[in-house]
Amino acid sequence: MSDTALTVGVVLGGVAPEHEVSIISALQAAAALDRSKYEPVPLYIAKDGMWYTGDHLLDVEAYRDIDELRETAIPLALFPGPHGTLECVEVRDGGALSHLTRPPRRFSIDVVLPGLHGGAGENGGVQGLCETFNVPYTGSGIFGSAIGMDKVLSKHLCQEVGIPVVDFVAFYEHEWAHREEDGLDRCEKEVGYPAIVKPARGGSSIGIMRAEDREQLDAAIEDAFRYDDKVVVERAVQELREINCSLLGDGTHVEPSVLEEPVASDDDEVLTFQDKYMREDDGGVKGGDKVDGPGPEGMASLDRIIPADLSDERTQEIQDLAIRIFRLFECAGVARIDFMIDEATDELFFNEINTIPGSFSFYLWDPSGVPFDELMDRMIQIARKQHREKNGRVRTYDVNLLAERSLSGLKGAKGE
Ligand SMILES: Nc1ncnc2c1ncn2[C@@H]1O[C@H](COP(=O)(O)OP(=O)(O)O)[C@@H](O)[C@H]1O
Ligand SMILES: [Mg+2]
Repeated sequence: MSDTALTVGVVLGGVAPEHEVSIISALQAAAALDRSKYEPVPLYIAKDGMWYTGDHLLDVEAYRDIDELRETAIPLALFPGPHGTLECVEVRDGGALSHLTRPPRRFSIDVVLPGLHGGAGENGGVQGLCETFNVPYTGSGIFGSAIGMDKVLSKHLCQEVGIPVVDFVAFYEHEWAHREEDGLDRCEKEVGYPAIVKPARGGSSIGIMRAEDREQLDAAIEDAFRYDDKVVVERAVQELREINCSLLGDGTHVEPSVLEEPVASDDDEVLTFQDKYMREDDGGVKGGDKVDGPGPEGMASLDRIIPADLSDERTQEIQDLAIRIFRLFECAGVARIDFMIDEATDELFFNEINTIPGSFSFYLWDPSGVPFDELMDRMIQIARKQHREKNGRVRTYDVNLLAERSLSGLKGAKGE
């Protein structure tokens, strides 16, 4: 590492069902950083929301035994630095006299790299922390993260500009309770069977079920409410082909990756958490290059065809639509937009946007001519550029209005 290397706070874990998936994606990203430019520092958010650091947290082995990890990892307190850094102080709980032996270590993070999936890491929460602290961070901002996490609001936003989505119905839990029969009637009228039921702000297929009849639909909706107080019921695309496109850039310049077609295991109709992350064979890429990721392969382990076997026109159409959606959600850095094609009708639908895609979609960028280290480099440079631009605009006034005028007329203010 050079003296001028930027310190990159790689945030991983998080309070979300995809905690472990995040650890894989984030460690892949940390390993891909060009060490002559960037020094990764792990910022681990445990399942209870506590933040920790420690060099060993860059090794996936550290996460096998969480009780031991908590013994060896160093709890952190965070606060904003005056020049756009995230300041971290190690909070060692070494007894009352520990401060006499060694002052707590303090260090600065120059750029935050959220490697979180689901929950506050992907829904704008951590992005909001960075905005509030005025620290550069990679990926999309609060708006794109928040709307992108919500499968219902995402569909509404796309519908607003004429991008097709499948028929759907959404409920909050309070609307559902005591009015189940009305809710089921509405689903049957507007969506029909088979239907796909999803927690509105989930991910990794957690809580997603297919329903063939009223009884299954009722059970699936009840189950989805265990994960979220908002649930979406969608028409199941029968002859489904799933096509994903990753995008890299910002509002000024965006480029699409090659397309992928993920393939579910034979007996499943929905790509499951197992399909996505628990496969133990060879990385499973069909018709393209095998993906090489460090350690466990995360999203890179799914069966997929890269590039997807589509006509040039269809490929171009999907890439153009993906760029439009990336801009619509005001995304930045890398995002992955997932589409569904109904083979029976040839219709193309927007399914969802992932503002922190599994494995940062590196397996789509490599065959697109952007190796993983360059992908990370570009994400960090975009984060720094956006931060510079934001700080170049008027954000506060230098004059102190409270010093300039008599305060005596201010109703309700102290000192009146
Ligand atoms: N409307 C639908 N029709 C058919 N299959 C669907 C539909 N929606 C989702 N699926 C299946 O379920 C999987 C997970 O749904 P998705 O909306 O991508 O949620 P997640 O955020 O959990 O990835 C998809 O990859 C697809 O296999
Ligand atoms: Mg998905």
